[in-house]
Amino acid sequence: MSKKILVKDVVEALDKITGGRVVKSPEDYTSGKNPFVVTKSSNIPGKAVTETPGLVCGNLNQEVKKIAVLMTLTESCIELAGATGVDAIIAHHPMADAANAGGVLLNTYLGLYNIAAFELHEAFHGLHPGLSYLHGHKAYHVDIRYKGIPGNILYVGDALPEIKTVGDMLNRLNSLMNTKQEDELLDYECKLRCCQDICETSVSAQGEIIVGEPTNKVSKVIHMFPHTGFTPEHLECAVQEHPGVDTLLATISRVYPGNPLIDKAKELGLNFLCGNSHALEIMENGMPLARAVQTLLPEVEVVLFKERVTSVPLDAFGTKEIQDYARLITEQFLLPKNN
Ligand SMILES: [Fe+2]
Ligand SMILES: [Fe+2]
Repeated sequence: MSKKILVKDVVEALDKITGGRVVKSPEDYTSGKNPFVVTKSSNIPGKAVTETPGLVCGNLNQEVKKIAVLMTLTESCIELAGATGVDAIIAHHPMADAANAGGVLLNTYLGLYNIAAFELHEAFHGLHPGLSYLHGHKAYHVDIRYKGIPGNILYVGDALPEIKTVGDMLNRLNSLMNTKQEDELLDYECKLRCCQDICETSVSAQGEIIVGEPTNKVSKVIHMFPHTGFTPEHLECAVQEHPGVDTLLATISRVYPGNPLIDKAKELGLNFLCGNSHALEIMENGMPLARAVQTLLPEVEVVLFKERVTSVPLDAFGTKEIQDYARLITEQFLLPKNN
């Protein structure tokens, strides 16, 4: 008979993976001793959340047979877990009451289905060089607070030997991310639903060369994340500090026409490539995390929950009956009555 795995074994596995970064005692939440217990706030009243790597919800002695690794917990994930026998969820992004449980409380909702929940965000970042690897370079310089701004992460890397051009970088990424299959799946969905205007994140926000030609040479790459506060001035300084850089790479978030980083890249003679969007982090961080958990806990079944968000025009959404329902509710209950 195989060993019975408990929630505390999952905590221990996550602690091993992160080299001891998981919360182990109540003091860890308040003492400031665990640097990975961190509060994130945009200073929007009532919207801060504190990351607590490790167990968020559940009992240490609860049995675990099936684990789901996912990026952001949502009510869809909780319902999928409940319906498929998942008894532990490991989310990469931090979770908060209501925000990650469809507006209700995590402990009553997850408790109803007997699901333990773990999170592992900043405590997982920085453990591996996967982001650079997937994008075809090897970072030799990493700054996690460039110009003194916490979270303004800058990698400088050499292109891998097999990556000679910007086109090689993009082809590598498209092949690793199975972009062709996502394109085909969306095409199929559009046909099935008789609507050509459905969009999907991994297709709409796929890798793209925004400055330069696919045949342009790549040897040294600056890799940054536009949402972290990386400015054209930062780019200019980084290029001066690292002579020989010929390519700028933006991942997780990207830039759109009008962003001053595009003009700065042109001025500096750089290629500019937008790589993986945040929607593909399940590949970058989720897959290695799931594999590590499976390796340490071979007795449990590990699955990944893959998000797929589509945009559908209002008039093309659902059946004629549900369209009629929405009109009826709108007319009878939602619009102000004329007298
Ligand atoms: Fe992440
Ligand atoms: Fe993320």
